[in-house]
Amino acid sequence: MSKITVSTLNKMKAENNKITALTAYDASFAKLFHDNGVEVILVGDSLGMVLQGGDDTLGVTNQDIAYHTRCVRAGSRELFVIADLPFMTYSSVSDTCKNAAELMRAGANMVKLEGGEWLYDSIKTLTQQGIPVCGHLGLTPQSVHVFGGFKIQGREDDKAQKMIDDAKALEAAGAQLLVLECIPSALAERITDAINIPTIGIGAGSLTDGQILVMHDLVGISAGYIPKFSKNFLLETGNMPQAVQKYCTDVKSGAFPSAEHEFK
Ligand code: KIV
Ligand code: NA
Repeated sequence: MSKITVSTLNKMKAENNKITALTAYDASFAKLFHDNGVEVILVGDSLGMVLQGGDDTLGVTNQDIAYHTRCVRAGSRELFVIADLPFMTYSSVSDTCKNAAELMRAGANMVKLEGGEWLYDSIKTLTQQGIPVCGHLGLTPQSVHVFGGFKIQGREDDKAQKMIDDAKALEAAGAQLLVLECIPSALAERITDAINIPTIGIGAGSLTDGQILVMHDLVGISAGYIPKFSKNFLLETGNMPQAVQKYCTDVKSGAFPSAEHEFK
């Protein structure tokens, strides 16, 4: 497989070829995923929950993500690796640059941050200085305490409209990819139609340009609870390589996510 870049992802969107993404935190899983059809790896701050056992993602540090990004990069040179900027590492433009640079030097191809229009200046500065950015809207887990729990977002008309406006602002600032988490499928479709950059959904229906799952959910071993939108692909396949292949085939064909995994 040749190196996957933002050009590859744009081409995939244009050709309606769904982007397959999973989280990974170490070299062995990065290699397994790469060898079995995954195109994008996210070193997610979900590691605060699935690796560190926390109730939320707030305890994760930039050093944690940098460490796991180095581990993931060691497993594959070709994979497109996105690294999460953790809670409070992007509260000012200069902090954002310093922390994002650390993740890029650790081997990331892109950094991801959570939020809307308020990130405009940070995203603009990052891209101007050579750091590609992925946005993240909907159920942004770093805001779990503001939301009052891990709850679906964007159900009300005004909140939905705000999310569409935020998506446009992120694109205008220079973001090149957008994760949509836990929102009604119809809203994910509206956002995907409203912008030109690829969207990657998780609990956002099947009409985004790609899908992502937390790897522990894919194999049904998450320490906490398993969200409605995820699916245990190990159950029906019986081994890890085939579970990953089945996930990729089902994302490509549109079989996953099906109605039972989405929010109306
Ligand atoms: O941290 C993470 O794993 C994420 C995905 C759920 C999108 O941000
Ligand atoms: Na995350």
